[in-house]
Amino acid sequence: MSKYVYINNKYLKFKDAKIHIEDRGFQFSDSVYEVIKVLNSKLLDIEFHFSRLKYSTKELNFNYKVNQTFLTKIFINLVNKNKLKNGIIYLQITRGIQPREHAYKKYLKPNIIIYTTKKKFNLPDKNYKGYKAITYPDIRWGRPDIKTTSLLANILAATEASKQGAYETILTKGKKVTEAAHSNVWIVKGTKIITHPANKEILKGVTRTVLKKIIRSLNLELIEKEFSIKELLKSEEVFITSSGSLVTPITHVDKIKINNGKIGAITKSLALNLYKAII
Ligand SMILES: Cc1ncc(COP(=O)(O)O)c(C=O)c1O
Repeated sequence: MSKYVYINNKYLKFKDAKIHIEDRGFQFSDSVYEVIKVLNSKLLDIEFHFSRLKYSTKELNFNYKVNQTFLTKIFINLVNKNKLKNGIIYLQITRGIQPREHAYKKYLKPNIIIYTTKKKFNLPDKNYKGYKAITYPDIRWGRPDIKTTSLLANILAATEASKQGAYETILTKGKKVTEAAHSNVWIVKGTKIITHPANKEILKGVTRTVLKKIIRSLNLELIEKEFSIKELLKSEEVFITSSGSLVTPITHVDKIKINNGKIGAITKSLALNLYKAII
């Protein structure tokens, strides 16, 4: 746990950081967030996080102008103050405080909370690990493309995975796969690497965006299209991407072994290339 937290222009000890009980983020999940990876004390893919944060705050009509230089300074200060080498920066912006009422008033003052957490990443070295995932219905609200803290459906899905000894939950809508509870999902079929298009049904992952560039630079075939649960279970390789998981192999889905339960060559190569690109 981090020693220092940033909250509305102040750096405070973790235990002293408090939020008002009528903060709309607390009462209604009326808030947005970002998770930024830090490797060797370096902030990664920061531009993409800011552009998604701008998108989230704009879509929800927050009274907040994203100031990249200002926020980056706070991120760096926290990384230094907390002596963070490998981990994540968590940023949450709530719409602000208002007497409890569903409809929001126009000019609320957002609350800004930033802190860091240590994390051991699944890096493509001798300890690189493949994980089990389960499938689960995608019962989220209609705008998962906005990175809000309205995550109850993701939490139920993730808890079910945890109960079944799985690392991630692959979300399904009817017969198709959308994404996962906290990552984007990819499948490999022959030379094709397939992932759901970045529309309003999924979160446009920053790691997804970076990996797309890498796939193109390696002259591999990238297809952004919907795919079915059947295709998922029959695919040669499955992997997920996120700021916390980087490129993580999925070697079992429900009771089905993918690639005989082994990490696939394409997955490993993409993980290595992503690691090289971010370092
Ligand atoms: C639902 C969902 N999809 C995808 C992602 C991956 O996004 P990113 O690569 O920006 O971490 C996340 C990350 O938290 C997520 O929660």
